[in-house]
Amino acid sequence: FPVAGLGTRFLPATKAQPKEMLCVVDKPLIQYAVEEAYEAGIRHMVFVTGRHKRSIEDHFDTAPELEAELERSNKHELLALVHSVQPAGMVCSYVRQPKALGLGHAVLCAQPIVGNEPFAVLLADDLLIGTTEAGGVTTQLVRDFVRMQSSVIAVQDVPREDTRKYGIVDAGGSLDTLVELRGIVEKPHPSDAPSTLGVAGRYVLGPEIFRELVKQKPGAGGEIQLTDAIASLIAQRAVYALRYEGDRYDCGSKLGFLHATLAIARQHPEVREDFEALLRALR
Ligand code: G1P
Repeated sequence: FPVAGLGTRFLPATKAQPKEMLCVVDKPLIQYAVEEAYEAGIRHMVFVTGRHKRSIEDHFDTAPELEAELERSNKHELLALVHSVQPAGMVCSYVRQPKALGLGHAVLCAQPIVGNEPFAVLLADDLLIGTTEAGGVTTQLVRDFVRMQSSVIAVQDVPREDTRKYGIVDAGGSLDTLVELRGIVEKPHPSDAPSTLGVAGRYVLGPEIFRELVKQKPGAGGEIQLTDAIASLIAQRAVYALRYEGDRYDCGSKLGFLHATLAIARQHPEVREDFEALLRALR
């Protein structure tokens, strides 16, 4: 989980708190992403953090005073909720990205911990809700990674005027759900974009990506881009894009965040009925 970004699109909320700790209904964004990874079978969570990100570490650590107090006052349901943040078998590691040199650099910072293993990259400000049938989006990617024995990245259709916000893939015009990539380019101008298939913030990658990452020079925005390393990898071996099943909310933007809040509140067992009533009253 690269979580070292400054969250400038969400100031002033992110002045003293990480954007990944912004809360959608009752859970911080980073918890949605960690739960998605856990559901996919991942047990070692690696956070690439920066300064001012301590609250993320605290969130996934034990909270002895809180837990003792809940225990003492017999609030067992709340205690179970607190414990559910650290499900069985989950291990967390933290590594610092000392400078904001880009997503590719952040992923490279995790190499000493990840080692020579496949791994997933989840960008927590993209909140992705999979489907009951297909599972979470990381689960879907892992399934195809295992089947194809190749890296797989999540893509979705985006409006052509928005290609400058995404990594855009060249799928050779294929409409298949899973497609081998011909190329990928970071944030192209709409007139240069090879398609309108944009990368959502989920990747399942083989460790060979690290060899490409170390070679990267600053790309779009002057940053070391994961997209550029994937482009180099495509020249050597198959990389696939998956049109995943599910919905994406760009929680790095105010409107996307509001949309996520609306969608999740309408599904939330505790508040959904009252929330629907509230919406009807507002109309
Ligand atoms: C990053 C990636 C981009 C991807 C996007 C998804 O960009 O570099 O390829 O499409 O996440 O959210 P960022 O939004 O961090 O600028």
